[in-house]
Amino acid sequence: TRTQVGIIGGGPSGLLLSQLLHLQGIQTVVLEQHSREYVLGRIRAGVLEHGFAALMREAQCAERMDREGEIHDGFWIAHDGRRDRVDLKGLTGGNSVVVYGQTELTKDLYEARDKLNGIVIHNAEDVKPHDLEGAPYLTWRQGDEVHRIDCDYIIGCDGFHGVSRKSIPKDKIREFERVYPFGWLGVLSRTKPVSPELIYAKHERGFALCSLRSQVLSRYYIQVPLTDTVEQWTDDLFWAELKRRLPDKVAAELITGPSIEKSIAPLRSFVCEPMRFGKLFLAGDAAHIVPPTGARGLNSAASDIYYLYHALREHYQQGSDAGLDAYSAKALARVWKGQRFSWWMTTLLHRFPERNPFEDKLQDTDLAYLFSSEKALASLAENYVGLPF
Ligand code: FAD
Ligand code: DHB
Repeated sequence: TRTQVGIIGGGPSGLLLSQLLHLQGIQTVVLEQHSREYVLGRIRAGVLEHGFAALMREAQCAERMDREGEIHDGFWIAHDGRRDRVDLKGLTGGNSVVVYGQTELTKDLYEARDKLNGIVIHNAEDVKPHDLEGAPYLTWRQGDEVHRIDCDYIIGCDGFHGVSRKSIPKDKIREFERVYPFGWLGVLSRTKPVSPELIYAKHERGFALCSLRSQVLSRYYIQVPLTDTVEQWTDDLFWAELKRRLPDKVAAELITGPSIEKSIAPLRSFVCEPMRFGKLFLAGDAAHIVPPTGARGLNSAASDIYYLYHALREHYQQGSDAGLDAYSAKALARVWKGQRFSWWMTTLLHRFPERNPFEDKLQDTDLAYLFSSEKALASLAENYVGLPF
């Protein structure tokens, strides 16, 4: 059997690309290692750039997002016992972000694929891309049966631990990486959020974030050492530590409740260059990872998909490979800006255990400068709502 575009990974990147291409009459097959329930069980990102929201509309998957997602015109940065607002809308000339969970977004994409009879193969084991510089094909296993599909192109949307990037010969790519000496402990709870808008908190005990999925579903995070485990953080300990890191007034209003999900994610910056090898193209977490502080992870994946979608349309509809040839450079230019912003937000707001007093002073000054300069705030805002594609 044959398809035009073979996609490895049925996360948001793979599903969105498959849906967009299908609407243009371009055939795709998506191979996903896990079951749909497993993919939908992962609680991850929650903030969408306005450009991503527009892409969901183009993919005809935005109905529920537009109904249930919340438009946020600003967020708060808490520090030194107080909080200051970042007026996204005012500072960017009218832009904002949409708060809508990755889980919901992925569910909508699956439903859209179902409606068009899009092919998404779940529980595909041992997926392998072959002959990437010649006539590419994919193989996988389901039980004892081995399958094969030939493709014009293979798109690696299989996340950081996927097989796509690992299939590229080591001497054909360069990897750039920074790991941070801490992680984020995240808790989801069916409680009213402490604030209708997100609060990013810098505190000497460590960073904290008050986020939400809706006005009845809260998502909170605290910075923890990498050696901590989910088991040692009982709900009571979590709520007590979160309160300590928030301004008194905010802490007093925090409504606590049983956690319905709790997990620890390590923080990492990572980029692989180029994002192409022969007829294999990488997109999303398969090619790059950011620490979550700037809410860029899912959004950087979406911008890769935007560029790939247009490049593949150019190939199939106009017979031009110019877009495909330019993909890696174009995607990476935006990816690195997301990297810079995520690194900066992380550096601004976290406690770095090994840092010296001079560096601590610089961090305090970075924050003081931010709230004393409209131009500095505007720079933060333009990055947070998403740079143009
Ligand atoms: P993924 O969502 O990782 O999807 C890849 C898919 O490929 C998965 O479904 C996987 O099962 C499948 N796959 C993997 N290997 C194979 C294989 N060999 N064969 C077939 N299929 C395979 N971003 C934020 O902005 N805010 C957050 O709070 C946030 N929290 C996060 C928490 C965690 C624990 C993680 C891991 C990421 C988080 N992110 C967050 C990042 C954001 O979720 C990702 O950027 C986003 O999921 C990227 O989408 P993707 O489709 O490229 O990759
Ligand atoms: C969420 C995660 C983030 O990394 C972020 O910067 C904002 C919100 C969230 O999961 O809600």
